[in-house]
Amino acid sequence: MLVEVRRLPRHVAIIMDGNGRWAQLRRQPRTEGHRRGSDAVRRVVRAARRLGIETLTLFAFSEQNWDRPPDEVEALMSLLREFLVTERDEILGNAIRLTTVGRIGRLPAMVREVLDPLVEASASHRAMTLCLALSYGGREEIADVARRIAQCAASGSVLPSDVDESYVSKMIPSMEFGEVDLLIRTGGEQRISNFLLWGAAYAELHFSPTLWPDYGEADFFDALAAFQARERRFGRTSAQVRESAPSPSVASHVQS
Ligand code: FPP
Repeated sequence: MLVEVRRLPRHVAIIMDGNGRWAQLRRQPRTEGHRRGSDAVRRVVRAARRLGIETLTLFAFSEQNWDRPPDEVEALMSLLREFLVTERDEILGNAIRLTTVGRIGRLPAMVREVLDPLVEASASHRAMTLCLALSYGGREEIADVARRIAQCAASGSVLPSDVDESYVSKMIPSMEFGEVDLLIRTGGEQRISNFLLWGAAYAELHFSPTLWPDYGEADFFDALAAFQARERRFGRTSAQVRESAPSPSVASHVQS
């Protein structure tokens, strides 16, 4: 598959699904699937950085994942800590900004003590933003914003007539990096699972059958090439899109 590097999606988000099934197929504990899933995270972060993707948001732990068996939650938190420790130099050395969305106040101290300093140390980096969605839920995020707006309205600091789509967008934490252009889900299921509900409103969706621990650069390139073959209309007609389209660039390509 050919990827045209001048027409990359700006913001790619990934639902990394299939770790448990990967392990079960090999009669291994689910946590082994998550461990191999961390290796896939490394591969995809590297590929995205190399290509020049501006923002990569990864659904690493949902608000609902807290309900999983305690030993699985504990293993996921340990893997997250391990990832942050082992990738620290690579993140800082490659000018990657690490950031988060979600209720990170719920994360254990052993994660926060490595996460917070890395978020701070990388805050001025501009080569790529790697956003980890942690203890994240799209509905929860929107509900939190609704509560804040209601408080502002109650205190008189905002008028109900000022609350429009653009106002709400500015309040949604995961919108800091703009709308999602491409939303990838691995593992064969075709659901959004409460991920980036606001920002993915016009995202192109790509569902890959590959279980996340097996996901690699070639799968990622396939998703990017599929994105580039789509026509994004945002409610307009094809003719309107063609009229407003910039003339095709002389392409540079990378191949998987
Ligand atoms: C979904 O697979 C995956 C998760 C709930 C966790 C994702 C975590 C990682 C990829 C590793 C740790 C993260 C980082 C950033 C280092 P599932 O367990 O629901 O799979 P299944 O549908 O096959 O059961």
